[in-house]
Amino acid sequence: MTDTQTLVKELVNKHGNRRESLLPILQGIITNNRYISEYAMMEIANELDISRSEVYGTATFYSFLDTKPKGKYVIRVCKTITCSMKGKNQILLALEDCLKIKLNETTPDKKFTILETNCLGWCHKAPAMLINDDVFTELTPEMVHQIIEDYKKKGIQEKA
Ligand code: FES
Repeated sequence: MTDTQTLVKELVNKHGNRRESLLPILQGIITNNRYISEYAMMEIANELDISRSEVYGTATFYSFLDTKPKGKYVIRVCKTITCSMKGKNQILLALEDCLKIKLNETTPDKKFTILETNCLGWCHKAPAMLINDDVFTELTPEMVHQIIEDYKKKGIQEKA
């Protein structure tokens, strides 16, 4: 058993293996390892019997280790092989075109940040991306434009 596996098991024993245990388990990993590796997320997903994207979404939503300020909506485009082969570059271009920023940048109004990420566990529905903890799959550039428009409107509605 690896150190990470042992740690995940210890945390699951301590906090339980229900969905509500996810956050304390992630915090426990941070306390011990200072960051949450892809491997640790996979182990947690297995232990709690939830998807890797759910673990990833929660971990990134709470941004434990993020030091750079990010937008209200953090977009993470999967860059792993299946998504790459299924048009991830077009998805990225569509996002950059909609938001007028490049990868790893934040819009001047601090609403959107575009990042890349590793596999979200949705390879069978590639290409995929996350916006905060919401997953979007089987993306096309047209869908990206629509999704971003919806999020822009959301921002306006929230203000109203
Ligand atoms: Fe993109 Fe798995 S390769 S979700």
